[in-house]
Amino acid sequence: MRVIEIEGGKGAAEALVIGERSTPEPGPGQVLIRVRAAGINRPDILQRKGLYPPPPGAPDILGLEVAGEVETVGADVNRWRPGDRVCALLGGGGYAEYAVVDARHVLPIPAGLDFIQAAALPETAFTVFTNVFEDGRLATGETLLVHGATSGIGVMAIQAARGAGARVIATSRGADKAKAAAALGADVSIDASDGQFLQAVQDAGGADVVLDMVGAAYAQQNLQALKPGGRWVVIAFQSGNMAEVDLSRLMRGRLTLTGSTLRGRNADEKARLAEAVETTLWPWIADGRVRPVVDRVFPLEAASEAHSFLEAGAHTGKVVLAV
Ligand SMILES: NC(=O)c1ccc[n+]([C@@H]2O[C@H](COP(=O)([O-])OP(=O)(O)OC[C@H]3O[C@@H](n4cnc5c(N)ncnc54)[C@H](OP(=O)(O)O)[C@@H]3O)[C@@H](O)[C@H]2O)c1
Repeated sequence: MRVIEIEGGKGAAEALVIGERSTPEPGPGQVLIRVRAAGINRPDILQRKGLYPPPPGAPDILGLEVAGEVETVGADVNRWRPGDRVCALLGGGGYAEYAVVDARHVLPIPAGLDFIQAAALPETAFTVFTNVFEDGRLATGETLLVHGATSGIGVMAIQAARGAGARVIATSRGADKAKAAAALGADVSIDASDGQFLQAVQDAGGADVVLDMVGAAYAQQNLQALKPGGRWVVIAFQSGNMAEVDLSRLMRGRLTLTGSTLRGRNADEKARLAEAVETTLWPWIADGRVRPVVDRVFPLEAASEAHSFLEAGAHTGKVVLAV
């Protein structure tokens, strides 16, 4: 099968080249998917640069999510049959014509979506669900503050929080991005190009949950932006991982500071999340509350251009490879 290899093991976007590998076979409890589309995520860029190695047992091929048709199933797989239209969360291996995945990490493609749209869903749906609704405990009527609002994660977070009946305050860097976040449903959309958002969030009443992909540069403002009992959930630290935290503010505000990564979780935990995502988020896709936002599609062989495009940071939503 054709795959995307990283020439030299790591490097710039140009290191992504087409290669050939043998097609994997599904073991017990696994399915083989004929990949039609693969979502690109920021962690793929970190992995390409050698900064985010695949967890033990995961393929070294990039790609955390795909959509396609089930080709064959291994022993003990009852839910899926060849020909089923599915999407899936992978530990790796999505930038390829075929991918093997734990059958429990596979979801049906929601009605009305094509492969490209479906490939844009799993990584952001799982990440937003577990961080915003499980660890962040965002409830109806509460307020979510989401940074990087036009990122793949951001557009899912805005729509899912609104779908749950929460208010959304969004920050992004650029007037056009702030407009796009408002169009996606953010109640308050802040252009934080100057790095400042606290006053605007306080003017809007503060936040119950912060979904934070920025880290150090926003840490002090995040702490001050939270209402009593607020939850600050870290999923990335793109501006740096070291921050000073005023513990008295945590105590006085009864605040919670937490964070997680999706990829490192074990297979059972991802299976549990898949069930929860299918029960909670999939109906919101069916009724139109949440829709995939795909900015641009590149063919598999143009993976290097696709990475350069994502790294340039002008996109809104997802970038997807057509396979
Ligand atoms: N923990 C997990 O389980 C998990 C899972 C998936 C993704 N992630 C992380 O979530 C983030 C979003 O992923 P994605 O695939 O959606 O990425 P993406 O579409 O490439 O978006 C990255 C976003 O980060 C924002 N950003 C980057 N540096 C910033 C800075 N210094 N200050 C403010 N904003 C900054 C950008 O916002 P502007 O456009 O406004 O500049 C951009 O919208 C990534 O950092 C990724 O590693 C974590």
